[in-house]
Amino acid sequence: MAFLLYSLALLGLANASPVMTIVTTITTSNPPDYFQTTPEIFQGPTPTGKEPFLRQTDDVQLSGVTYIPPSPLETQQPIQGNSDDGNIFTLLGNIAPYHPSPGFGIDEHPLPEGANVTWVNMIARHGSRYPTEPIELGAALADAKGAKFSGDLEWLNDWKYSLGTNILSSNGRQELYDNGVLHVYNYGQLFNPNQTKKLVWRTTTEDRMRKSAENFAAGFFGLNYADYVDLEFIIDEEGYNNSLSGYNVCENNGNLRTTAGANASAAFVANYTLPAAARLNALSTNFHWNSTWIYSAQQLCSYETVNLGYSKWCALFTYEEWQDFEYSIDLDFIGTFGFLSPTARAVGVGYVEEVLAKMRHHLITQATGSDNVTLDGRERTFPTHQALNFDFSHEVNIFAALTAFGLTQFAEPFSPEEYTEDRSVVVSAMTPFAARFDIEMIEAPRPVCADRTRGLYEEGGKTTYVHFILNQRTIPLGQSHAACGDRDDGWCELETFMKWQAGALEEANYDYACNGDYAPPAYGDVRNGAPPS
Ligand SMILES: *[C@@H]1O[C@H](CO)[C@@H](O)[C@H](O)[C@H]1NC(C)=O
Ligand SMILES: *[C@@H]1O[C@H](CO)[C@@H](O)[C@H](O)[C@H]1NC(C)=O
Ligand SMILES: *[C@@H]1O[C@H](CO)[C@@H](O)[C@H](O)[C@H]1NC(C)=O
Ligand SMILES: *[C@@H]1O[C@H](CO)[C@@H](O)[C@H](O)[C@H]1NC(C)=O
Ligand SMILES: *[C@@H]1O[C@H](CO)[C@@H](O)[C@H](O)[C@H]1NC(C)=O
Ligand SMILES: *[C@@H]1O[C@H](CO)[C@@H](O)[C@H](O)[C@H]1NC(C)=O
Ligand SMILES: *[C@@H]1O[C@H](CO)[C@@H](O)[C@H](O)[C@H]1NC(C)=O
Repeated sequence: MAFLLYSLALLGLANASPVMTIVTTITTSNPPDYFQTTPEIFQGPTPTGKEPFLRQTDDVQLSGVTYIPPSPLETQQPIQGNSDDGNIFTLLGNIAPYHPSPGFGIDEHPLPEGANVTWVNMIARHGSRYPTEPIELGAALADAKGAKFSGDLEWLNDWKYSLGTNILSSNGRQELYDNGVLHVYNYGQLFNPNQTKKLVWRTTTEDRMRKSAENFAAGFFGLNYADYVDLEFIIDEEGYNNSLSGYNVCENNGNLRTTAGANASAAFVANYTLPAAARLNALSTNFHWNSTWIYSAQQLCSYETVNLGYSKWCALFTYEEWQDFEYSIDLDFIGTFGFLSPTARAVGVGYVEEVLAKMRHHLITQATGSDNVTLDGRERTFPTHQALNFDFSHEVNIFAALTAFGLTQFAEPFSPEEYTEDRSVVVSAMTPFAARFDIEMIEAPRPVCADRTRGLYEEGGKTTYVHFILNQRTIPLGQSHAACGDRDDGWCELETFMKWQAGALEEANYDYACNGDYAPPAYGDVRNGAPPS
């Protein structure tokens, strides 16, 4: 309602109450680069692909079960070995379409009486997109002379690779719009309609990042979101400081020192894909399926589904092969951007420092790693008194930030050889497309009992708590930091939290982690997201 009032005021229809007046502090003709909307700069490659045509391409036929309409993606596919109602679209690691997390080991609790959510900071991932590089299987199939396919692969005789790269899919737009809607329902009253300054929400210059932020803002405020918020675009390019893509300035992230995860993943893939390769080779003439191509075919299931609405690649693989696919991504992430990576904390710590500064209402004027202090040192580009803080980023950067916060519940190594159901990291539950990681501050009139059936303590004054929520489920802070306590609700008292986080920058060992000349650690050698010193 507050937003409506404001628009009426603009039209001169309501003047009784002092509603929001926008102070325009930038001119639209010549804004600084970080508020510029057209033309785009540093937007990255943006080749598009073929348009979807689901009414023509969707040929799923399920017998003996109720028809479930695509919504809008066609994800109802018969998957061999799917005995317990599983959904393979939740087993696609970082390329899974958005779905809420199944939880991080704790139940959800409503606010106790008299407590208020006073502040929220979200870092969200862009929505589903094309692959960042063309999937080479497409060209290999097109180039294969005299290739012929039969049986379950018959359709491949007419198939053509038709994806672009990098840019947001239509489903990705929807994921972000929905996330904006989710956040206005959750936090709408934290918008102060009397404020005289526009909010500032931050994203990066990359095309999909910009459009993700725009769709979120449209979901939150409506299409006239620019009346309420300035979107800030931080340069996303190798060599530029950017807390939302911290790897751009961390030399060792991406060289041999951070290959343990990718290598463990590749070795795991080389094994589990062999039965599928044999299966498909039996249906193929003049084309040889090896583990690389099987893995690519599994990736195509995701990319075609999120971009074209449906993919025939999905049903070629068993439920167990999809579980292995997820597992291979989990090995990669814990090793590259998680606790088994020597640069994970360094890549993520810039963002952590920004969150801590905003909680304390401070600007950042000294380098903390990847932050751009030109932006973080000024209220106009780093507002420290906003109750609604929404940032947009990449999954690997969000994953690294979770590591830099010291959330050791995601630290335990798991077997690089054998699929392990019970493990510390499941990427599709943490950073799927359009993932959202919210941090709330909650003020309670008195301390809240760790046993939530017991309500508030009789004694003590106003107490502030920090609450971490990832993909709509609580991360129990006490599981990673004992001093937060073994609380039912997973919260941590603010000063306890701040004492814990005071060590974040030192733990990351930024300069040595990113620029040091240390031997490349093997999988499991590193346990704390920073190099052995
Ligand atoms: C906005 O201003 C009106 C009128 O002064 C006041 O009643 C209302 O509480 C204010 N809202 C907020 C969120 O400050
Ligand atoms: C910091 O951001 C400003 C504004 O976009 C930009 O001009 C500058 O190049 C950036 N500096 C670094 C080191 O990335
Ligand atoms: C990962 O594999 C590559 C290629 O085989 C190799 O050069 C590199 O040393 C391996 N990395 C680690 C950490 O063992
Ligand atoms: C699979 O075949 C392609 C094309 O010959 C090749 O580039 C790739 O390295 C092969 N993968 C493996 C694991 O041998
Ligand atoms: C960019 O980051 C480096 C490394 O932390 C730092 O030395 C430099 O001052 C930063 N530049 C800006 C503009 O923030
Ligand atoms: C792959 O399979 C071989 C043979 O069964 C086994 O020795 C090896 O440990 C497996 N490697 C991985 C990474 O699973
Ligand atoms: C919560 O908000 C209400 C309404 O603004 C206020 O009366 C109350 O004091 C607040 N509670 C705390 C613990 O700050």
